[in-house]
Amino acid sequence: MAQASYSPGLEGVIATTTSISYLDTEHEQIVLRGYDLIELARTKRYTEVAYLTLYGHLPSAAELAGFEGQLREHAELPGEVYRLLDLLPRRMHVMDAQRTVLSFLAGLEDPESLKDTSVEANLRRGVRVLAQMPAVTANAYRALRGLPRVRPDPSLGFSEGFLYMLLGSRPDPDAVRVFDLTLVCYIEHEMPNSTFAARVIASTLSDLYGAVVGAAASLKGPLHGGANEAVAHMLLDILRHGGADAAEAYVVERLRRGERIMGFGHRVYMRRYDPRALLMREFVPQLAARRPEGEELVRIHQTVERVMHREKGLYPNADYPAGLIYYLLGIPIELYTPIFLVSRTAGLVAHVVEQHAHNRLFRPRVLYEGPRGLRP
Ligand code: SDX
Repeated sequence: MAQASYSPGLEGVIATTTSISYLDTEHEQIVLRGYDLIELARTKRYTEVAYLTLYGHLPSAAELAGFEGQLREHAELPGEVYRLLDLLPRRMHVMDAQRTVLSFLAGLEDPESLKDTSVEANLRRGVRVLAQMPAVTANAYRALRGLPRVRPDPSLGFSEGFLYMLLGSRPDPDAVRVFDLTLVCYIEHEMPNSTFAARVIASTLSDLYGAVVGAAASLKGPLHGGANEAVAHMLLDILRHGGADAAEAYVVERLRRGERIMGFGHRVYMRRYDPRALLMREFVPQLAARRPEGEELVRIHQTVERVMHREKGLYPNADYPAGLIYYLLGIPIELYTPIFLVSRTAGLVAHVVEQHAHNRLFRPRVLYEGPRGLRP
């Protein structure tokens, strides 16, 4: 066995080999199946990048048509799921609703077939889960808020259809384009806590549903996916308490109290800009006019970024622009991290497929600091 070593939070530790993605910080690139994720986000739509993530190559026109057809075919939820959503406690977080439905969906699959961890079975299962996640997410929110359910519209593409169900009305093409770009940015990001959680669970040969449920539980945490919601709440808090002119003092005071400003910092990027944040930031100004308070929020957003760099040398991560973009698109704040999970489902499925195909059970050791030699 290799010499055991200990790094808090596994910082800097290589957890596994993978052919899916890699954060090439030296070249400031997010490599996804050999492509630069930022270039993919600029030139491809989410379904093309999801296909690449799952199957390892960009789809031909025919492959894309088939894949998008599968996503449309499986978008609608079984009736039992809608009944389950009606039973959920109203104060439940949408991400807890997502993982509850994922566990329920596992129960709808034949228990014997669920044991099939082959690449084919996992991809079939994973594409079905990805297809269902937009309707699960939008309808979980609507059930929890006492709003009428909205069924997938098979005439709409994946991102347009998802945004339609989130808003309850047909989105305009510009909104769809930016929303789709954010989904590409969120699709896959090497080995964040949630992906690691999924692989640890899959490494016991537990099923794909359970791995995604574990990832959802991880992603809900404010140090991880929950940050995009916190960004929106912070911007609105500053807006209500003096606006852009008060933003600097707001940040300085919270830092003085030792608080963290959500949307900044990253374990891997450390004190560098998250390429996804740089890309998404380009699209913020064009969205500002969509809400009366948009221009002021953009000024607040820019001031907070400037102060965080000056005070802490920290740059935004993907959640910082995403939180403002989703707000300007009119999406309810409590849906921001659930949206992140929907997008990342493609990456999570790819990792479960890879883990099951080349498995080694995760079972690390510990540095014991407790008492020894005690007698009863
Ligand atoms: C995502 O891993 C991924 O790739 C995740 C993700 C993905 O796509 O899956 O990129 C998505 O989760 C992005 C991160 C979203 N989370 C947040 O924005 C929450 C706020 N960020 C931080 O909590 C923090 O930056 C982390 C959790 C993201 C990274 O934390 P680390 O690497 O453990 O860094 P650290 O806690 O050791 O902090 C180092 C220093 C500390 O200061 P000192 O004690 O050394 O003086 O930086 C400070 C921290 O206090 N710091 C912050 C800060 N983040 C770090 N100070 C204020 N605000 C912050 N946001």
